[in-house]
Amino acid sequence: MAELKNRDLGFPAGKKRGGHDDQYDVVAKKSMLYSSPAVAWEDPAAALASARHEFGEHGGVNMSIEASATFTVMEPETMRRMFSGELGPDRDFFIYSRHFNPTVLNLGRQMAALEGTEAAYCTSSGMSAISSVLMQLVSSGEHIVASRTLYGGTHALLTHFLPRVANITTTFVDVHDMEMVRNAMEVGKTKVLYFESMSNPTLNVANIPELSRMAHEKGVTVVVDNTFSPMVLSPARLGADVVVHSISKFISGGADVIAGAVCGPASLVNSMMDLHQGSLMLLGPTMNAKVAFELSERIPHLGLRMKEHCSRAMVYATRMKKMGLKVVYPGLEDHPQNKLLKSMKNKDYGYGGLLCVDMETEEKANRFMNLLQNYSQFGFMAVSLGYYETLMSCSGSSTSSEMNAEEKQLAGISPGLVRMSVGYIGTLEQRWSQLEKALNRMQADSSLGLFNNKN
Ligand SMILES: Cc1ncc(COP(=O)(O)O)c(C=O)c1O
Repeated sequence: MAELKNRDLGFPAGKKRGGHDDQYDVVAKKSMLYSSPAVAWEDPAAALASARHEFGEHGGVNMSIEASATFTVMEPETMRRMFSGELGPDRDFFIYSRHFNPTVLNLGRQMAALEGTEAAYCTSSGMSAISSVLMQLVSSGEHIVASRTLYGGTHALLTHFLPRVANITTTFVDVHDMEMVRNAMEVGKTKVLYFESMSNPTLNVANIPELSRMAHEKGVTVVVDNTFSPMVLSPARLGADVVVHSISKFISGGADVIAGAVCGPASLVNSMMDLHQGSLMLLGPTMNAKVAFELSERIPHLGLRMKEHCSRAMVYATRMKKMGLKVVYPGLEDHPQNKLLKSMKNKDYGYGGLLCVDMETEEKANRFMNLLQNYSQFGFMAVSLGYYETLMSCSGSSTSSEMNAEEKQLAGISPGLVRMSVGYIGTLEQRWSQLEKALNRMQADSSLGLFNNKN
């Protein structure tokens, strides 16, 4: 039944054990290893709908979970051919699940479709995706140019960990200063330009086409963290070479799973799985097949979720700004990269599901969050993002606390910056009234001078 259904849709049927026939054109199968490239990529939702649909072993609408660490072969010779690289997942030959696993590969196909890359593979966390791809692309003695404004963990990886363990150094730059970026890249020595499409936590938007063009002129590979803006931005379609994700955030949507992905050329993904030199194969940040299955069931409604995160963030940002709060949101006309974002974003998904309110001091930020959680029940004080409830944290003392005072100042992280990942549970007006209630209570306490930035 599964074979019939697969054939009806023009997809190769799943392999049956012992059925290693040569009826499929190997080249055609190879092209289907990661995604369904037959359809021109225009939009992430359209690409996801066109990606190969994997059916279950018994014809189930959902694929079966390949919950096996290891895989059998029919003839001893096959094992040697698999280890030599002659037979691989492109022909449905699997060795061991730290290497490729069919269920994880299916999620990789979805991620490749989402980002419009040739290939993708998933990892056990966003940090493992980032560290593995950097260690694959950059060797000892070589150099990275990175944005000054990055998630604190990535900043620490580049500042402290990679120089110590791998002699890989990083120059941090303001990615909005093109001259500075160009001057920092040294032909031959700089291997990667790394930045976040929408920066954590400041919500600056990078000029992906221009930065990619400049990097390519110097032979530098562009790696973009798109964790904050899946569906909204598609960095690889704008010129980047590699896109990394913390799937733990919007893509998962449940705040229950830690996961990541590397999306890029098939040659990169294959090199990361190389038995002798591959960072994924040898460092082993493997994704469990059961986790991959769960996540692959959530990706089809990512677009719907993003639309709601983004439209509510836009409403709250607009209203809070009207009240005189210092709001940072890329959808607002006064955001420095509002026009740039309009020129790069995919239509229909909005301007991102995060906004920031600068309360100027940590004391005011803490009071604000405390009221929002414990007085008006608007959201939760918690790090992370992309959950259906609103999550808020004071970035300087939490997710960016790895950075020292000077680094935070250069990155534009004020001590009172409250980052909010806007949820979609409840009605918009119900949640807005909770936000207003907390703001009014805070305003009543005049000693904190909440609305002193009226504009
Ligand atoms: C932008 C960004 N990239 C990467 C990561 C790391 O992801 P993970 O927690 O899945 O390892 C985070 C985590 O907060 C993040 O915000």
